[in-house]
Amino acid sequence: MKVIPVLLAAGFGTRMKSNLPKVLHPVAGRPMIEWCLRSAEGASDVIPVVVVGHGREQVMAVLGDRCAYAVQAELLGTAHALQQAGALVQNEAKAADTVLVTYGDMPLLRTETLRSLVDAYARARKDPALAFAMLTITREDPQGFGRIVRDAHGEIAAIVEEVDCTNDQRRIRELNPGIYCFDAAWLWANLSRVPMSAKGEYYLTDLVAMAVAQGKRVLTVAAAADETDGINTRVHLAQAEAHMRMRICERHMLAGVTISDPATTWIDDTVRIGTDSLVLPGTLIQGNTVIGRNAVIGPHSVIVDSTIGDGCRVTMSMVEKARMDAGSNIGPYGHLRSGAHLGAGVHLGNFGEVKDSYLAPGTKMGHFSYIGNARIQENVNIGAGTITCNYDGVHKHETIVGRDVFIGSDTMLVAPVTLGDGARTGAGSVVTHDVPARGVVYGVPARPPGSNRAPLQNEGIEKADAAPFAARKETL
Ligand code: UD1
Ligand code: CA
Repeated sequence: MKVIPVLLAAGFGTRMKSNLPKVLHPVAGRPMIEWCLRSAEGASDVIPVVVVGHGREQVMAVLGDRCAYAVQAELLGTAHALQQAGALVQNEAKAADTVLVTYGDMPLLRTETLRSLVDAYARARKDPALAFAMLTITREDPQGFGRIVRDAHGEIAAIVEEVDCTNDQRRIRELNPGIYCFDAAWLWANLSRVPMSAKGEYYLTDLVAMAVAQGKRVLTVAAAADETDGINTRVHLAQAEAHMRMRICERHMLAGVTISDPATTWIDDTVRIGTDSLVLPGTLIQGNTVIGRNAVIGPHSVIVDSTIGDGCRVTMSMVEKARMDAGSNIGPYGHLRSGAHLGAGVHLGNFGEVKDSYLAPGTKMGHFSYIGNARIQENVNIGAGTITCNYDGVHKHETIVGRDVFIGSDTMLVAPVTLGDGARTGAGSVVTHDVPARGVVYGVPARPPGSNRAPLQNEGIEKADAAPFAARKETL
């Protein structure tokens, strides 16, 4: 048996009230259709077909060649949508004798659930009377679902869409989530015979009554109701997000990560976390982030696309596109921006910001500092209020600090500038010129002790002041 999954995803998603196609709205860090695709991929070896319509260019740009596409130009119902995949499925996957139908807006549907349907179908298919198998769910609130109508023997006789229900049928709690596993030959022979509904659409659900009328059988497989809610509004989106978040947290907890409050911990599916790490409340970990073992992340932290080593600590801080080597720590109220790299054991205290810079092991930056475009060697003490003045209004410039440097509080490092190994700056220095190894400077502009004039006739200061203003005038 060879199964080809077909995902229906042509709908408008009108109720999302969005310019983004519904199926591209993210759930726990992945576009919802990607979740659906992953589930489908897990249930078959054949590349799935996605039926696209509304916003198809955007959908195809996101999914690329992970799937094949059929286009439904006009939305004429679920049977019509599936029919659009017919030619493609019959040509390219001739050997597929089974068609698994699912949707692009059901991100919570698990591979296991799809497989249980496929397996049940596989076991029953030697019965030549079997036309297809489908999932059913039972739910207290049946609103929005087609009702499963059974005959006197308990066999499924029809699916009745909500709008067409009698009062009695409306009370039925066994419902159609819309997931089917068809015998391909039977499907393609019958799909084009589905009658047009009063609304002018073609309902996939009519295939049940058609099969029964032919003396064929439809197998139903009960599924959990919480996986098959399609997302129609942003309220549903938030509910799916909450559900998915809990699933992801559970996966990490079962793998050895302590999450003290899963309800306020948002971890994208793409994130990896090592064992014995602790994630404290109010924390978002997103994108392509990898966290090592024994790390403590949070409370109230945001980590995006970052690599955080073993034993690191991130307290009430934001870390974006940054790297923290083992044992380094930041916070509270720290910010690592793109290209920040803290070497092993580096300490960043309150209100520190680092961007595009490397701080080598043993370096400490306790309070209120901004370090940008800098390379700072081992065991440097970065005093409170140190700022790399890395931007002259036009260009970014680099600051280089050697090992064992002591930077006094409130030092401005006017880049480009280099501080040699073991250099020291006094509190409040404005360093406009390079300081040699073991050199000491203080004041504004900074100069060696005993010297009354600024070094080198302030030429660097002129450059830093005048050039950018001239350039800026031109661009204004
Ligand atoms: C459908 C089922 C209903 C079931 C419910 C479960 C039919 C006729 N009804 O109803 O029995 O209980 O799903 O959620 O099948 N789509 C297309 N092209 C179309 C129409 C729909 O691709 O022309 C796609 C949509 O993008 C969506 C899915 O099919 O992903 C379901 O369509 P929707 O209009 O939401 O069907 P329901 O009315 O909810
Ligand atoms: Ca729906």
